Amino acid sequence: MKIAIMGTGYVGLVSGTCFAEFGHQVTCIDVDTEKIRALQSGSVPIYEPGLQPMIAKNAEAGRLAFSTALEPAVGEADVIFIAVGTPASRRGDGYADLTYVFEAARQIAPLLRGYTVVVNKSTVPVGTARQVARVIAEANPEADFDVASNPEFLREGAAIGDFMRPDRVVIGTDNARAEEMLKAIYRPLYLIETPFVLTTIETAELIKYAANAFLATKISFINEMANLCEEVGADVHAVAKGMGLDGRIGPKFLHPGPGYGGSCFPKDTRALLRIAQEHGVACRIVEAVTEVNAAQKARMVRKIRNALGGSEAGKVIAVLGLAFKPETDDMREAPSLTILPALMEHGATIRAHDPQAMKEAARHLPEITYCSSPYEACRGADAVVLMTEWNEYRALDLVRIKELLRTPVFIDLRNVYEPKHMAELGFYYEGVGRPI
Ligand code: UGA
Repeated sequence: MKIAIMGTGYVGLVSGTCFAEFGHQVTCIDVDTEKIRALQSGSVPIYEPGLQPMIAKNAEAGRLAFSTALEPAVGEADVIFIAVGTPASRRGDGYADLTYVFEAARQIAPLLRGYTVVVNKSTVPVGTARQVARVIAEANPEADFDVASNPEFLREGAAIGDFMRPDRVVIGTDNARAEEMLKAIYRPLYLIETPFVLTTIETAELIKYAANAFLATKISFINEMANLCEEVGADVHAVAKGMGLDGRIGPKFLHPGPGYGGSCFPKDTRALLRIAQEHGVACRIVEAVTEVNAAQKARMVRKIRNALGGSEAGKVIAVLGLAFKPETDDMREAPSLTILPALMEHGATIRAHDPQAMKEAARHLPEITYCSSPYEACRGADAVVLMTEWNEYRALDLVRIKELLRTPVFIDLRNVYEPKHMAELGFYYEGVGRPI
């Protein structure tokens, strides 16, 4: 199969690379000349474990190319994936901004040759694929094409594994020929017995939002249970385990913390609320999920303040981890972007370390001191806050940390350490939902 991918963001780049790994002929197209030039010379613009060697291998084998030009790749393609960004609209109204999706559709329309399937892989509101079809048909009434929706469920930091061994593949289209072509593209997954959900376009579009909103719901739910645990003296880890062992609930995504962040959950929950509102349907649970998430970040600020004796004014706080989760340099909607400014506003000084995200963080938080190691960050600080659970923070030399801190206050927003052990080491320790 010949595949063209419009957009080399997270989804486009990972999907394109993995399709090439399946053996297809893939061209990834982007308007960003610098990005394409970098990719052509073997440098990968995002930090994603395993991606760089897979790109190199497939580029070397001649199956994966990068270009700013639509031709000849678009004309030759059997299937074109639209994987451009759908950021939150700048109007701040919760809508997804579809400018790039429609622009991509307009650009490819006059170039289509022979039967082509145009697939939306970006997360888009219900009805977008049909609008894409309209845009293409208007721009090129002769075009022989069908549209489909094929949402992507990969997680940053685990993207290659998620793509190559997904829980399911969702394909939404009204046309049997398009469905067969997409099934053929995913044939290697079919062979390892991945379940396929073959459905309509609208259903596929909604599955993506429903799945992300439900995962966000699990997180907000367990965060509220953690807060309750703190008041009643229960341990949220045992609560999550006790709940999660019920097969109907499942153990995953029940880890409490400072609230969810990233480029998906915050944006997609807001967009789902907009879609529901537009159709006059109440989505009260999702509404509460977003409110609980905002409240959780505010609660973390209060937790840190209390651990510092009631005021952060004039205090130095060491922060370990800035990215919204480990194994990524992505800072989009990271809890640190809300929590740290709130502390600085009241006179705290921040010394931070992150294994990958410091460069990106500095664009948003230029006023904090970036340190070369977690130990450097702790030197002379009044407290340390573990914000993101990077592996290198799981085995810290705690005795050394204690010596470096001015006062041995350890606030673990990811529950990496055991409260009892930390108390034995002489720390004043605070986790989330885990009394000592
Ligand atoms: C999420 C989904 O997990 C993917 O399935 C989906 O494809 C993707 O969004 C998307 O729509 O593109 P991602 O945003 O990369 O993936 O990250 P997650 O691993 O889901 O984490 C999201 C946030 O939830 C992080 O801030 C993380 O710390 C938090 N989280 C996750 C918790 O606080 N507790 C948990 O138990 C799990």
